[in-house]
Amino acid sequence: MDIRLDGKTALITGGSEGLGRAMGRKFAEAGANVVLVARDPGKLEDAQREISDAVAGTQARVEVVSCDVTDAAQLHAAWDTVAASLGTVDILVNNAGATAFGPFLDITDEMWQADIDLKLFAAIRLARLAMPGMADRKWGRIINVLAVSAKTPGAGSAPTSVSRAAGMALTKVLSAEGAPNNILVNALLVGLIRSGQHERRHQATAPEKTFAEYIAPIEEKLPIGRIGQAEEFANLACFLVSDAGSYVTGCAINVDGGRSPVV
Ligand SMILES: NC(=O)c1ccc[n+]([C@@H]2O[C@H](COP(=O)([O-])OP(=O)(O)OC[C@H]3O[C@@H](n4cnc5c(N)ncnc54)[C@H](OP(=O)(O)O)[C@@H]3O)[C@@H](O)[C@H]2O)c1
Repeated sequence: MDIRLDGKTALITGGSEGLGRAMGRKFAEAGANVVLVARDPGKLEDAQREISDAVAGTQARVEVVSCDVTDAAQLHAAWDTVAASLGTVDILVNNAGATAFGPFLDITDEMWQADIDLKLFAAIRLARLAMPGMADRKWGRIINVLAVSAKTPGAGSAPTSVSRAAGMALTKVLSAEGAPNNILVNALLVGLIRSGQHERRHQATAPEKTFAEYIAPIEEKLPIGRIGQAEEFANLACFLVSDAGSYVTGCAINVDGGRSPVV
């Protein structure tokens, strides 16, 4: 099976690091133009350089836009920049996020609002901007990157698990409304995949250990016995946003090495 995205444009939030960066590279290698959106311009430039080098000599363009996706005005400005430069967005990946969890009684209104703005409202606003053009062209793909706690919320998993469950409901609504126009919408629920957030947590909590030593006790609890790699996640995302994924919509797929106790 040849998975190609030639002629498509993909906008990926949280595209400067981790899973977003890996998807950006994978999509560009499949021929897509990619736009990476995140806040830190330095990290964005680094990602742009890496991916541009990887696809040098091909038609794929790699652009970056610095934007805080929790800020509606910045989001609209970023959208206008992308529209002026690349014209259309065929593939939207709502991926920007950050770890947020703790005991329910410790979570303030401000923490709830910040989590919802980042993990839910940014996706709502971008889908609202992207879907009309996708409907006109009768082709669109949206992936909402969530977490397995959306299906298996436990003690101490708020606010993330609640925002992520809402993201799953949003996925289902958008897939039902998008399907008549060939706009396919799926959620990918992440378990444990190596990325910037794990590197930061390693450095903050156990800098005296190697990453392998730090992560080993966590890996032992996973059925597959190891943390996932961002490229493994990007492989599935690339399939879903391609024509090969043409009959898959409205799904919330665990990408977790078998960690979740639910399907
Ligand atoms: N990796 C895992 O094991 C795991 C597990 C569960 C869920 N997830 C979810 O998967 C997604 C990707 O995670 P990751 O592990 O790749 O994380 P990561 O390496 O920490 O990358 C997060 C990305 O999001 C961007 N970002 C954060 N806040 C933003 C904001 N307000 N506006 C714009 N961009 C923002 C970051 O760039 P800036 O900081 O420069 O803005 C960065 O590009 C996230 O939604 C995360 O919650 C991951």
